[in-house]
Amino acid sequence: MADLTLLYQTLAKPLTQVSLASVLLVLILASYFILSFTELSLLRKTYNACNEYGKFAYSCFLKPHTGDGSGGQQAALESFYKTQASIYDATRSRLLQGREDMLALVAAQVRHRVETGKIEHKPIWVDIGGGTGWNIEQMQEQVDVPNFFHAVYLVDLSTSLCDVARERFRRLGWHNVHVVCQDARAFRLSDYETGADGSKAQFSIGKSVYDEQSGETIGADLLTMSYSLSMIPEFHSAIDSVTHLLGADGVVGVVDFYVQNQVEFQSRNYMGGAIDRHCMWISRVFWRTWFELDRVNLESARRDYIEYKFGTILSTNRRCHLVGFRIPYYIFVGCAKDSSTSLQQLAALDASVTESPFISALDLHSESANKPRRDSTQERHSKAFESAVVNLAASLPLPSAYYQNNKTRIYYDETLQKHRQFNDEYIYAFTWEDSRTDSRLLKINSDDVILAITSAGDNILSYALEGPKRIHAVDLNPSQNHLLELKVAAYRSLEYQDFWKLFGEGKHPDFHNLLMKRLSPHLSSQAFDFWLHNGAPAFSKGLYFTGGSRHAIQLVQWLGKLLGIRQDMLRLASAQTLAEQRDIWFKRVRRVLLSRLLAYFVIGSERFLWKALGVPSEQRAMIEEDFKKQAGQEPITAREGGEVSGVKSGQAIWNYGVQTLDPVIEQTLIGEDNHYYLVCLLGHYTPRSHPTYLAPRSHARLSSSTSPLTNLRIHTDELSEVFARMQRASLTIAVLMDSMDWFTPGSEAAPQQVKAVNAALKMGGRVLLRSAGVSPWYVKVFEAEGFSAKRVAVRGLATPCTDRVNMYASTWICTKVGEC
Ligand SMILES: C[S@@+](CC[C@H](N)C(=O)[O-])C[C@H]1O[C@@H](n2cnc3c(N)ncnc32)[C@H](O)[C@@H]1O
Repeated sequence: MADLTLLYQTLAKPLTQVSLASVLLVLILASYFILSFTELSLLRKTYNACNEYGKFAYSCFLKPHTGDGSGGQQAALESFYKTQASIYDATRSRLLQGREDMLALVAAQVRHRVETGKIEHKPIWVDIGGGTGWNIEQMQEQVDVPNFFHAVYLVDLSTSLCDVARERFRRLGWHNVHVVCQDARAFRLSDYETGADGSKAQFSIGKSVYDEQSGETIGADLLTMSYSLSMIPEFHSAIDSVTHLLGADGVVGVVDFYVQNQVEFQSRNYMGGAIDRHCMWISRVFWRTWFELDRVNLESARRDYIEYKFGTILSTNRRCHLVGFRIPYYIFVGCAKDSSTSLQQLAALDASVTESPFISALDLHSESANKPRRDSTQERHSKAFESAVVNLAASLPLPSAYYQNNKTRIYYDETLQKHRQFNDEYIYAFTWEDSRTDSRLLKINSDDVILAITSAGDNILSYALEGPKRIHAVDLNPSQNHLLELKVAAYRSLEYQDFWKLFGEGKHPDFHNLLMKRLSPHLSSQAFDFWLHNGAPAFSKGLYFTGGSRHAIQLVQWLGKLLGIRQDMLRLASAQTLAEQRDIWFKRVRRVLLSRLLAYFVIGSERFLWKALGVPSEQRAMIEEDFKKQAGQEPITAREGGEVSGVKSGQAIWNYGVQTLDPVIEQTLIGEDNHYYLVCLLGHYTPRSHPTYLAPRSHARLSSSTSPLTNLRIHTDELSEVFARMQRASLTIAVLMDSMDWFTPGSEAAPQQVKAVNAALKMGGRVLLRSAGVSPWYVKVFEAEGFSAKRVAVRGLATPCTDRVNMYASTWICTKVGEC
């Protein structure tokens, strides 16, 4: 009371009244000026926007959605949508994110099926809960809707939204789009379409329309649910009903909000990746409660049931960024689960993974499936096969790898710590072993069955160019295999110009679109998800500035700038003669890159060696060991000379660097013929100097219909695990790079791996390996386990430069001469 009296007294004062009147006057004048200088259209726009969002806020947050009291879903929907049907599209563009991406992904899948003849007719699309038809109009960005589709059915229970949709398609003049105002559970395609034989199916209440036994031939080639699943109360029956709508080779796309805890999905092997799937508890509680106000249900069972009823082709978890909030949503692209998959089919698929007697079965799948098998005791199965069998027995969908358009990438369990340790990052953005030397040493022919470490995949692609019978690329780090998969997908879907931008220049301004529209049908779910999360930033700053190896490239560039030799580095990359190159190196660049301080305190540190150069402590120990021996017998380097006092790690690494880099500069012209160092200096390749796989003729060969890449299988596991599951005597070449250096001397693991290699190799089969050591300790292990070992290159005074990389002290070929 006292407060009110005080307020009244204050207002009664003339000074207060004059002040208030002045403020009001200023406000009126300001509004007058602003309005007179503002265009009428802008005023109208602002008014409309305020009106739209006002209506939206009222309908979503204030208006009760009780319907007409009948308890029916249609009445409740109408009470929600009637007041906002006309402003629905304008108010949902920022909230319902991911719709364009989902449409691009399913369109790419359907297009791929049409192009490869899997879908032989004009496709039929059913959009469940299609609302105002915005998605269907938006699909025009991907395909020409009126001509591409035989028919499009928009099924929605809200009469007011259906009216908006009808008006839209009338305006657009799209006669093949039909708006059906009906509950999704009651929609039957057969009510509108005739079967392949031209007749309409007869249905009776209580009988499943798409009874598998009845040989029903009508099915949608594309089924989409965009933010509608979370609005359907009886979601089990809705999903069951929708499942029956899908044709045998059809594609289903779902985009919707969700919340989920990792405990709910952690043991599943068929989800196709789980980057960002887990939502924090606060996000789970908040968004569920928030959306319940509008009868939108985010419980995880909806998404789970979709994944249970369909096979997963692609799956990803995203966040909708809205006024500082992050609302979780997912995109799912799937296909029929195909409950008829038999063990026989799985075994045939598995054959090319293990080089079993079914070897040629994958590509000639149906033909081979009828042939009698050889001695079944000889058969080996991959872990992928074993997981699939477990899923089949439990009526679960198969792991997503089985639903891909091509079976290049083999299923692996991404939840294992041995894969997760890499934190979704590759170490090598480019391969650091000279493919030309490999080619000279191996002389690959069409009978060769090769197993090689993936790394960045560059050398795998070089081997493929030589047309071997089969290549198995193996890497424990899933992201290295994602990188190879991206290159393979790019051959399969992109023109040379885009291919070069991606991997030659390492930059592409439109990566997101390429991924969605072109690359996605050729990628596994895990690789797609990885590139969706990491691709756009990687290809905007430059591919070769990503991954662990970026630390080395960044260090070189940073030092160049800081110490004023950046221009010299660029001159080094464009030197026309070896003499010019040597001059720039020895006078300018070397003193920085081969500075002892740098070697002792940065490059020589265990962390840098491992994270940037992929050099583990065991390999570093070999370098130190050789240095110790050399120091006792000869000067440290030919050029520097001098005595070595004490064997410090930094000195050993520095010396190793000198022995690597000086001969490279002396003997190879970087700008013309040494892309390995060129990419380190520039961060990209040039049309004159690049890996073989980037040449236009390589692109032509590897993207052709007879591409040797059909014979590529990508394994994500330890080498020893893959060797152990290979059929005996099936491989002719194993390229182990420097991986043997990673074993601890004297450990059991090395002989075990060598035994497994021996068992998998044919007699006369060869192992190519490189080592940081001049005479690595494990050569004796090879000799003890049935191999004859030959050092085919060694760094020394006689041959200071073994190849264009010259990173390894020795190169070996071990030939199998006996069983172990
Ligand atoms: C959030 S809106 C999404 C609309 C549209 N798909 C989009 O992405 O803009 C959800 C739609 O689901 C529809 N819906 C909800 N329950 C349904 C049911 N049982 N049968 C058919 N449609 C339903 C609603 O009428 C509404 O149009």
